[in-house]
Amino acid sequence: MNRGREVIKRSIANLYSWSADRVYEPLVVQRAFPLLGGNLNELALEQGRRAVANAGTRPLLDMPVGTAFFTVTAAAAHDGLVVGADIAAGMVKRAKRAGAEAGVDNLVAVQTEAHRLPFADHSFGAILCTNGLQVIPGLEEAVAELARVLAPGASLYSSAITMPVAAALPSSVGRKLPTVLKSRRELVVALTEAGLALRSVRSQRFATLIEALKPVA
Ligand SMILES: C[S@@+](CC[C@H](N)C(=O)[O-])C[C@H]1O[C@@H](n2cnc3c(N)ncnc32)[C@H](O)[C@@H]1O
Repeated sequence: MNRGREVIKRSIANLYSWSADRVYEPLVVQRAFPLLGGNLNELALEQGRRAVANAGTRPLLDMPVGTAFFTVTAAAAHDGLVVGADIAAGMVKRAKRAGAEAGVDNLVAVQTEAHRLPFADHSFGAILCTNGLQVIPGLEEAVAELARVLAPGASLYSSAITMPVAAALPSSVGRKLPTVLKSRRELVVALTEAGLALRSVRSQRFATLIEALKPVA
C-alpha cells in the first residue's frame, strides 16, 4: 500500500477522532451538510429507511458510521444486526455511546478501515455509505471493497459531497484528484466498474445520492 496514502488516512482518522466529541455534529452534521447538500440530512435518513427495507433481517453495514447520528435511526427500525465501521477510534467510541443512549442493542461499532473490511464476501443485506466517500482516499478501492461485502441482490446507498473541479479537466487528470474534488460522473463510473447497477442518482447542491444494486450472478 502507498505510504503517502497511509499517512493521509492516519491524519484524517486523527482529525475525525478529535472532532467526535467536540465539533462534528454541531458543525459538520448540523451546519456543513445542509449548507453543501441542501436537505441532505433528510435524504440520508430516507436512504436509511430504504436500506432497512432492502436488508430484511440480514445484517446491515454503515461505513463510515461517524458518531452514528444517522445510524441509530436505521438500527432502531432494523430487525437484524447493524454494523457501524469507522477508521477513527473517537468516532467508534461515540457511535457506541449513541447506540446505548438511544437504547438500540443491535448496533455494533467496529474500528476498521474502508479498504480492508474484516468481513466475508456477501455478508450484508444492505450497505449505507453516508457522507463517506469524499473523505476516504482511493475511491475505486473503497467502492470495490463495499461491493465485495454486499450480498448479491442487495443495494448500496451512498451520499457524498463533491466539488466538481474534475468536470472541467481531462478524465485522466480527474481520476487522480481526491474524491471531494471529483464530479458526480466519477462516482458513477467507480460504482459501475465495481460491478454495481445504478438504481437512482440524484443531486442536491454539491451532494450526490446514489442507490446501486449488486446483481445476482
Ligand atoms: C463526514 S464523516 C461521515 C460520518 C457519518 N456517516 C455521517 O454522515 O455523519 C466521514 C467519516 O469517515 C471516516 N473515515 C475517513 N477515512 C476513512 C477510512 N479510510 N476508512 C473508514 N472510515 C474513514 C471518518 O473517521 C469519519 O467518521
